[in-house]
Formats: sequence, structure tokens, C-alpha cells
Amino acid sequence: MQDRMKVLYIFVVCVGSVFAKVTPDYFPQCKRSDPQIEKCVLDAIEAMRPQLTSGIPEVNIPALEPFTVPTLKLDRNAPNLRIKATVRNAKAYGGSRFKIEKLKLNLNNRYAGELKILLPKLMILADYDVRGSRLLTLDINGKGRLQGNFTGITVVAKGIGKPVVKDGVEYLQADKVVTRVKISHGQIAVDDLERPVAAVSAATFFNASPGVVLDIVTPLIEETSAAVIKAFVNKVLGAIPLNEVLADKRK
Ligand SMILES: *[C@@H]1O[C@H](CO)[C@@H](O)[C@H](O)[C@H]1NC(C)=O
Repeated sequence: MQDRMKVLYIFVVCVGSVFAKVTPDYFPQCKRSDPQIEKCVLDAIEAMRPQLTSGIPEVNIPALEPFTVPTLKLDRNAPNLRIKATVRNAKAYGGSRFKIEKLKLNLNNRYAGELKILLPKLMILADYDVRGSRLLTLDINGKGRLQGNFTGITVVAKGIGKPVVKDGVEYLQADKVVTRVKISHGQIAVDDLERPVAAVSAATFFNASPGVVLDIVTPLIEETSAAVIKAFVNKVLGAIPLNEVLADKRK
């Protein structure tokens, strides 16, 4: 009797898991065959903005307010910028006020998309540890906490996805993501524990001509944001089967 109950229980759980949706009921679905799929996705994102702000743990969607990146390693060697840094506990406030300027999807025979978003303002807090680094002729080494306000941010992200099968279920994963980032203005403040005077003069230099420094660090910001976006997208899409992301299967 006991064993039969156990078998029945396992059967019910297995059948249930095949039919159960992982996404909450308010989670919108768009159809691949929809001729206005971009509009469907844009409406879906707008409808979910409140949930996106605080995150949807059931489907691995982290909160946008604040958007948190626990650790980032930066390593770049360019003529004007040599940097080796670890950034911890980075928090960005203001991300939930994104405006989507453009969305282009190509789901015929492949998964490709382009998204242009505008962020009116981002306030960033992060702990940094910078070694052996230089920006122009400026020594930027140190360890401490940075606070920055950035306005007029445009991000264009292009991505290509591919379906992957995990435990017999098909998911979509981002294969390649590239971004273009433009930041109109920025102001930073630093609280450095090792070299407070040098750090303050570096911050003063930045604040006096943010455009000059932002131009130099833009390739690094683009590389980093592409990696962060790819990880974010794959975390979300890795939790939602493809047939719940797009309601109809490819013909
Ligand atoms: C950034 O903005 C906040 C609030 O708007 C302000 O308190 C802070 O002093 C600003 N920081 C810098 C570095 O300008």
C-alpha cells in the first residue's frame, strides 16, 4: 500500500511538472507568428514594469531597484586606460525608469534582437579595488567606495540567441551580446581608504571634464554592460522554458 502510494505520488508529480507553467499567471506570452510581436513584447514589458522593479524570484528575475552586481572584474589594457580592478557590491538606482526607444526582433529561422533603451538617470554605489592602473597620465589606484550620478544614458544592445536543451526541456540562451553605450553626463565622489588625496584629485579631474574620461572608458563600459546583460538575460531565460517565452513553436 505504502509503495503504491509512493508510485502514485511520483507519477502525479512527474505529470504535473510536465504540464505546470513555471511562469506566474500575470507573465505575458507573445506568439512567434504575431506580425506585431515587437508591440506584444513592449506591452508585456510595460505591464510588468512594477514586478520588474522589485524582481520576480519565481523566474529568477532580479530586482531592478536597485540593480545589484555582487562582483565585477575589470581588466583592460588600452593606450589611454590601463586598468585592473575588482568592483564589489555595485548597486544602481534608477534602472526601473528605463524607456524603450526601439525593439527589433527577428525570429524567423533564428533568434536575434536589438534593443535601444534610454535611462534618464542612474545613481551608482560600488566598492572598488584598483591596482596597477592608469587613465591618461593619472594614477587611479586605490581602494574604497565610489558614488556616481550619470544622466542621459543610451544603451543599444544587440543579441543572438540559441536554443539549448536542459533535462529534456528547451530554453533560449543568449549566445552573443554586444552593446553601445553613451553617457551624456556624470559626477562622481570617492571615499578612498588607501590614497584619499589622490582619489579626490582623480574624482575632481573626472568631474571637471566627464566627457573626456567617459570617452576613454566607454569601451570598458560597453564590454562590461554586454557581459552583465548576457548574464542577466541567461539567468531569466534559463528559468523559463522556451515554449513559455514564445507561445507557438517554430514551424
Ligand atoms: C548624486 O545625487 C544624489 C541625490 O540626487 C546626491 O545626494 C549626491 O550628492 C550626488 N552625488 C554626486 C557625486 O554628485
